[in-house]
Amino acid sequence: MKYIKDFKILKNITISDDTFVLELQLRQKLPIIFPGQFVEVLINKSKNTFLRRPFSIHDVNTSKNTISLFIKKVGEGTEALSKYKVGDIVNIIFPLGKGFNLVKNKKVLLIGGGCGIAPLLYLSKRLNENNNEIHVLLGGRSKEDIIKIKEFKKYGKVYISTENGSLCERGLLTQNSVLKNNFDKIYACGPAPMLKAVAKIAKEKNTECEVSLENIMACGIGACLCCVVETKKGNQCVCTEGPVFNINDLTWQI
Ligand SMILES: Cc1cc2nc3c(=O)[nH]c(=O)nc-3n(C[C@H](O)[C@H](O)[C@H](O)COP(=O)(O)OP(=O)(O)OC[C@H]3O[C@@H](n4cnc5c(N)ncnc54)[C@H](O)[C@@H]3O)c2cc1C
Ligand code: FES
Repeated sequence: MKYIKDFKILKNITISDDTFVLELQLRQKLPIIFPGQFVEVLINKSKNTFLRRPFSIHDVNTSKNTISLFIKKVGEGTEALSKYKVGDIVNIIFPLGKGFNLVKNKKVLLIGGGCGIAPLLYLSKRLNENNNEIHVLLGGRSKEDIIKIKEFKKYGKVYISTENGSLCERGLLTQNSVLKNNFDKIYACGPAPMLKAVAKIAKEKNTECEVSLENIMACGIGACLCCVVETKKGNQCVCTEGPVFNINDLTWQI
């Protein structure tokens, strides 16, 4: 079931020059939200963003009826959203797409690159409830891209790669030494080249792996076909059949 609702901005927290977190409250009780699902936000404070913008659900607080979004400013829509003030109202369609499949009692690795970190916090929380041993690998260009380390540490062990070496291991996320270890399952979100590199490692190690794709979207509900990805079951809309896919279902050349 999808809903179109007005949320009130409770917090707009600046994380770095180009990233921020919005905490948004719904008046009513939130429906069940699965990690990896996303929202489509109407941005009415800018002239050219009549199409809603998709964002992963970063965190959910069922006692406060809030969801959080971790957003990187890349264009007019996200720039406009960064300027919303506490008390402003934002119209949102949610929860959209199919999320990650949650395992129980396993050793899991969560990998987030750039704003691909966004869906992993709520995923960690839910995997922790399922008694999994959680390892989280976060990667970015510099330390400013790495967020919520303390919160991730509540759920598991955290590993970090930065391309400029400003925090922990220097280099690409896929070069991090934690990837030498074995895991029962890998969950990943980030840019497509990173996801392909993760998928290659997972295939070599014969590890189950799910990735969350961030194809460009417009409608978010399977009507415009602009988000299609080729899969072994034919072309599928990332907004309705994903954004989470098992790597074995994708036709990637890796
Ligand atoms: C399922 C899903 C979940 C997402 N989750 C998050 C999230 O949690 N946090 C976050 O910051 N961003 C997320 N994104 C990306 C986000 O939707 C775009 O950055 C946003 O729509 C850009 O809007 P804009 O008006 O600021 O930029 P635009 O003016 O629309 O575009 C500016 C630049 O950003 C690029 N861009 C636009 N959309 C995307 C996209 N979907 N993926 C990659 N590049 C894009 C454009 O090609 C262009 O170069 C997600 C995208 C999808 C599909
Ligand atoms: S965004 Fe319109 S079909 Fe997926």
